[in-house]
Amino acid sequence: MEKLMAANWKMFKNRLEAKRTAAQLAELVGAPPDGRQVLVIPPFTALETVAGVLAGHAGYALGAQNFYPESEGAFTGEISPDMLLDIGCEYALAGHSERRHVMGEDDAFVGRKLAFGLDKGLKIVLCIGETIEQRRAGQVAEVIRRQLSGGLEQADPAKLSPDTVVVAYEPVWAIGTGETAGPEEITEAHGIVRRELEPVFPGKAEQIRILYGGSVKPQNASEILTLDNVDGVLVGGASLQAESFAKIVTA
Ligand code: PGA
Repeated sequence: MEKLMAANWKMFKNRLEAKRTAAQLAELVGAPPDGRQVLVIPPFTALETVAGVLAGHAGYALGAQNFYPESEGAFTGEISPDMLLDIGCEYALAGHSERRHVMGEDDAFVGRKLAFGLDKGLKIVLCIGETIEQRRAGQVAEVIRRQLSGGLEQADPAKLSPDTVVVAYEPVWAIGTGETAGPEEITEAHGIVRRELEPVFPGKAEQIRILYGGSVKPQNASEILTLDNVDGVLVGGASLQAESFAKIVTA
């Protein structure tokens, strides 16, 4: 499986800014290095613009930050997987810590989204990770287990595969704080994720991509990418500038 190098632009960039950043990224990186795929995840309003820029660039995919688990209906303010597929999205995030902690999404809702998104044909990046309080209380393994099983248990087993599911381990205390988890913390957490995936993906858990996220920067990306069980990165702040994300993609 190719390593997935994902840029989560969160609630940043109007269409012009998104267009410029995506175009500059494609120009700086060109064809991604062998064994790597780039995933750009802009805000909804810039999806069509970025889709236009990336069209024709092999090795680049488009993703959405969120969706609601219904095809259509009276859900004011929400966006469906069908709409995302229509605009050219291949991937979507589910369970990002900002949605869990700012918008109050719980494991059951994240699980419902993952199951529905997969049914519709989206590939899902399931984000998990503990808070600093949970880490201090020695609950890292327990939180990983709970968020993984909550995220995956409602899915149709026939839809769960290394091609359709990516896991992103993002310790909440490392997101947007400048504080990166150390190599030991990352290796330990990713090892736990890998083990927990085995019963859900019998014989295929090794192929599931596990991304690390949380203050990934050009300076730390290459070290993180060489760690055991790290199959890519999910980058917020350092993905907003094409120059810095290009360095991460090629790190
Ligand atoms: P960060 O965000 O790189 O700014 O820490 C990562 C994320 O939220 O996916």
